[in-house]
Amino acid sequence: MDKWLKAELESKIGAIKHMSLLDEQGGTSTVRKIVTGQGAFLLKSSFQQRYREWLRREAFVLQKLTKTHHLPVPVYYGFIQERHASHIVMSFEDGITLTSALRKAKGDTEKKKLIKSFGQFLQRLHETEMVPGLQPETDWLDLQIKRAGEYVKKGQAEGSEELLKALDRYRPVPVQQTMIHGDCTADNVLVKDGEVCLFIDAAGISAGDPRYDESLAIRHFVTKEAYLNAFYEGYCRYRVSKQEFEYFNGGLYEFF
Ligand SMILES: Nc1ncnc2c1ncn2[C@@H]1O[C@H](COP(=O)(O)OP(=O)(O)O)[C@@H](O)[C@H]1O
Ligand SMILES: [Mg+2]
Repeated sequence: MDKWLKAELESKIGAIKHMSLLDEQGGTSTVRKIVTGQGAFLLKSSFQQRYREWLRREAFVLQKLTKTHHLPVPVYYGFIQERHASHIVMSFEDGITLTSALRKAKGDTEKKKLIKSFGQFLQRLHETEMVPGLQPETDWLDLQIKRAGEYVKKGQAEGSEELLKALDRYRPVPVQQTMIHGDCTADNVLVKDGEVCLFIDAAGISAGDPRYDESLAIRHFVTKEAYLNAFYEGYCRYRVSKQEFEYFNGGLYEFF
């Protein structure tokens, strides 16, 4: 780490005693645990332009939520920009991702308990009151389609222009917007003491379509009925149709 970045960090969280790369790294970032006299912190760094923009949005979201304590997310400590990298400093939270927890789980009963807890946790988010300042000015889906179009133009998306056109034309019938996570996979929630208790990777938190979260949440066990039922024991407010699931998981998610 260069001297300038170290000094910037220490101005926010105190003298660094220890720093280590996490075993589990993100897809868009490098993550490190930093320990100082003031506690344990997570440094999340991104280097590509697109991911740096997401990181900036994540900083904005965390800052907003840290001020108002609305939602279970890490505490924000700062955002640092360099010429070729951007960094967020946030609280280091104990726990492991739901993906790891499911991998480590001893049997089906434990897995189902974790998945039910994920459902409950997501339901709580979708029932929470709107956070001022995190509501998009235009319709959430309009905004996602516009963003997706920009990624297609730059050649940065997996999904094709044809798919995007179809998503634009054949939109699902609108539902009531709620607060959503916006990238609600098992990689982006942390488990502690057997319960899902924290959202991480918060860049997409916004008022939006809750069916997007629901679809990404169930994507890895949508064909396994026992797991799907466990999820819906916890998440009781709505159940996406096959078409809605395909629209969000197989469609929109291809662009992000
Ligand atoms: N606040 C945190 N406390 C502890 N670990 C974290 C925290 N935020 C992220 N992590 C760890 O870092 C990994 C990558 O973080 P994430 O924000 O999901 O990055 P990416 O945007 O690259 O997917 C996570 O899988 C998790 O293991
Ligand atoms: Mg992630």
